[in-house]
Amino acid sequence: METPYKPLYYGDYLQLPTILDAQKPRSGELNAPTAAAHDEMLFIITHQTYELWFKQILHELDAILTVFAQNPVPEHEVARAQHRLERIAAIGPILFQQIDVLETMTPMDFLDFRDVLYPASGFQSVQFRLMEIKLGLNRQQRVLTHLPLSEVDKERISEAEKQPSLFSLVELWLERMPFIQKPSYSFWKEYQAAVERMFAHDRSMIETNAAMSAQVVSDMLTQTDMNEKSFRAFFSEDAYNALRESGARRLSFKASQAALFVLLYREYPILHLPFRLLQALIEIDENFSVWRYRHAQMAMRMIGSKVGTGGSSGFDYLMRATAQHRVFADFSALSAFLIPRGSLPPLPQEVASMLNFVYIDRQEQDKRTAKSNAAGDYVKTQMQSHFPHAFLIREKVENGAIELSYTFPDDEAAAHALTFIAPLIDGMNAEYGVDVRVKAVPVHAV
Ligand code: HEM
Repeated sequence: METPYKPLYYGDYLQLPTILDAQKPRSGELNAPTAAAHDEMLFIITHQTYELWFKQILHELDAILTVFAQNPVPEHEVARAQHRLERIAAIGPILFQQIDVLETMTPMDFLDFRDVLYPASGFQSVQFRLMEIKLGLNRQQRVLTHLPLSEVDKERISEAEKQPSLFSLVELWLERMPFIQKPSYSFWKEYQAAVERMFAHDRSMIETNAAMSAQVVSDMLTQTDMNEKSFRAFFSEDAYNALRESGARRLSFKASQAALFVLLYREYPILHLPFRLLQALIEIDENFSVWRYRHAQMAMRMIGSKVGTGGSSGFDYLMRATAQHRVFADFSALSAFLIPRGSLPPLPQEVASMLNFVYIDRQEQDKRTAKSNAAGDYVKTQMQSHFPHAFLIREKVENGAIELSYTFPDDEAAAHALTFIAPLIDGMNAEYGVDVRVKAVPVHAV
């Protein structure tokens, strides 16, 4: 049978001739007549494999950024973005494991071809820089800002730096999160009170513990005071902003509150997805740190304290970057502000009910409301035509039921009206599945 497209061939589809012809060890070429260093092939293939995974991560990141650039972010798209973040997190262990394979090369094997690499370096991996930038690493955080890149690559990087990063988009998304502040409820105030109760309880436990020496009690109380002080900074916007200015925090006050709320009440169905999303961000950040650390150790093992081929101080630079180049560290740092479940302030019903899934068949509900309104109108016309002296004083609508209250000149007129209208209403309620009631109130009782 003829197909509308050309039959596919495995190697063509995957462009294997191009990919498999892209490993060109330089040591043979430059060290002629010596043969190419055996391990240079492993070195090249490992780097190329990394770059392919970097490409996949960037592909996922671009799609995630498109989702979060929307305001509001459509809920079903958050789920898709979350799934893609989990995919990026799942790629992490593959990146670490490749270090094990590369470390089967000994430092002497590496020396066989290291000289031919100058001045090229992983420093120049544009895809690595793009991942960092798109996730949210900013220039101020960088250990080194001037990288030995080509003009074209510098341009790509500066373009990416102009776009909002995942960090800033997630921050805005968190800042927009409802639930935390209602006219009748302030999560932050409630939480502060709960934290104070917890510390007061901790203090009384320490002070009344007869088994501890006076010195231990005093040390523990000092420690408790310090913990409480660090909590306090989190409760005052000014104190928090001072931390931000000093560089100790990056996430805005509002976004931090929202993220903490998600971590504390994640069992509520609506918060579960944001919780998983924050977890994925923390995991991705952690994966980058683990990779950086393992890569630094590998560099130490291969070149000791020598400078890198790209011109950095080598191991020392890599370790500083490991500590400093974190994007979502503020999210993991929130753990310091969690309190045990038993001390958590319960959410008011108004907020709790918003956080549960509620299934409402809108069409069905609209039909029921229309039927109920029509029945109410019918009863009102009947009342008006049979009892023109009655006045409608109240119309109460609750859960689809309608209660109409009329005044009558006296008890007798009220009773008479009810005897007349009741069978008509009962019949209508039964036939149409509605719930309309009439209350007849003598005027002296109003
Ligand atoms: C023998 C193995 C390796 C050694 C000895 C090594 C060494 C180094 C050194 C010393 C640096 C610091 C920059 C410089 O001065 O050159 C560096 C940076 C870097 N290397 Fe490697 N590397 C190795 C393998 C890899 C592999 C397999 C990758 C995978 C892509 C890689 C990616 C990077 C990246 C992305 C940077 C920049 C890191 C940053 O600035 O935070 N390296 N490497």
